[in-house]
Amino acid sequence: MAEIKVARVESFADPGKQVFEIDGFEFGVFHVGGEFFAWENRCPHLDGPACQGKLIARTDEAVNEDRTGRGREFSKTHMNVACPWHGFEFDIRTGRHPAKSEVRLRGVKLRVENGDVYATIRGA
Ligand code: FES
Repeated sequence: MAEIKVARVESFADPGKQVFEIDGFEFGVFHVGGEFFAWENRCPHLDGPACQGKLIARTDEAVNEDRTGRGREFSKTHMNVACPWHGFEFDIRTGRHPAKSEVRLRGVKLRVENGDVYATIRGA
């Protein structure tokens, strides 16, 4: 394993992401709400390139105090990435599928220092 500088903080939109391939190891770095997260670019479903999917706000069921529903609305705080192969979604902060928490992306160690983003690369 090796820690490698992969990008500058200002190269990311918020929300935004970049996907990297270093020595055959693919991973996505996500910037959401001022925080950074990184996940291997392998979907737990069928190994699709999950990190290359679209960033979308989580869909929540809005419920009134009397427990009647108001329909669905987009979360203002939670973002998911949707795998481009079959649409599985993963919470960018946790890597977990919203409905089946045991289905999750594998994390990549990340560090931000002095405006640089460093990732620890497996096999490098
Ligand atoms: S490979 Fe990602 S949803 Fe199927």
